[in-house]
Amino acid sequence: MRLENKIAVVTGSGSGLGKAIAMRFADEGATAIVVDVNEQNMTSAVADIEARGGKARGYRVDVADQRALRDFMEELIGTHGRIDILVNNAGITRYRAFGAVGPEDWDAVLGLDLKAVFFCAQAASSYMVRQQYGKIVNISSSLGTGTTPHVGSLSAGAAAPYASAKAAVIQLTQILARELGPSGINVNCVAPGFFLTPLTGSARSPQEVEEHIRVRTEMAVLRRAGKLEELANAVLFLASDESSFITGETIRVDGGRTDRM
Ligand SMILES: NC(=O)c1ccc[n+]([C@@H]2O[C@H](COP(=O)([O-])OP(=O)(O)OC[C@H]3O[C@@H](n4cnc5c(N)ncnc54)[C@H](O)[C@@H]3O)[C@@H](O)[C@H]2O)c1
Repeated sequence: MRLENKIAVVTGSGSGLGKAIAMRFADEGATAIVVDVNEQNMTSAVADIEARGGKARGYRVDVADQRALRDFMEELIGTHGRIDILVNNAGITRYRAFGAVGPEDWDAVLGLDLKAVFFCAQAASSYMVRQQYGKIVNISSSLGTGTTPHVGSLSAGAAAPYASAKAAVIQLTQILARELGPSGINVNCVAPGFFLTPLTGSARSPQEVEEHIRVRTEMAVLRRAGKLEELANAVLFLASDESSFITGETIRVDGGRTDRM
């Protein structure tokens, strides 16, 4: 067991990649703290983890809401006494035609995909510093390291807020690594390529989803979408003591994206 008795918070773990990460952590002996704004998904993720014999606790939290975040962290520490691992996974896209991208799209996407990453790390690290131990893993995206053609009605510029936030998360990872390293906290990042999750279908018509899958599959030298557990395995490595001398790093888990090779 690689995470025996660790308290591991995964934001946005009611579905998709976050849920796969929480499950993997629980398989390795951690208590998975399932944090999600969607209560139904959060509850069913906890039930699924427990059905496999894992330990999990669910919290319905909008992590972009400062007050809710602070209350959650206090409650968590009150109950568990510590926080060993934080995975900043919660994220949204707001793809629109380039000309239709508005300020509210920037605010919503940056509010969660960038600002909340900082404030979750700030809140969790205040406890980790006292422990002189902690692992923070931020989830970026292949769109944070390269531009890609979009499909259907969505041109490359549709992803401007999302890609900008995800690129900033890579730099923020290095800033946090420098800030927190002297306190025994490792901060790293994973940049996923293409994985089929509910996010894939958001803001796309069924035809666009089909085209998106085709294009993304062709863009990876492994010629397929990633499996959720393949992403979870990389996050597990960075959350465990096996990566104890790695910090400020970003691992791409993207099947060898041709737009960057
Ligand atoms: N799926 C992919 O191919 C892919 C590729 C690159 C990066 N990513 C990134 O991986 C992460 C997970 O994506 P996914 O594909 O699993 O998406 P998803 O939509 O399946 O899951 C995201 C989860 O976050 C939750 N969430 C949304 N807003 C929240 C908030 N304010 N507070 C708390 N929880 C909130 C949602 O309810 C959902 O359960 C995201 O950061 C995403 O940008 C995904």
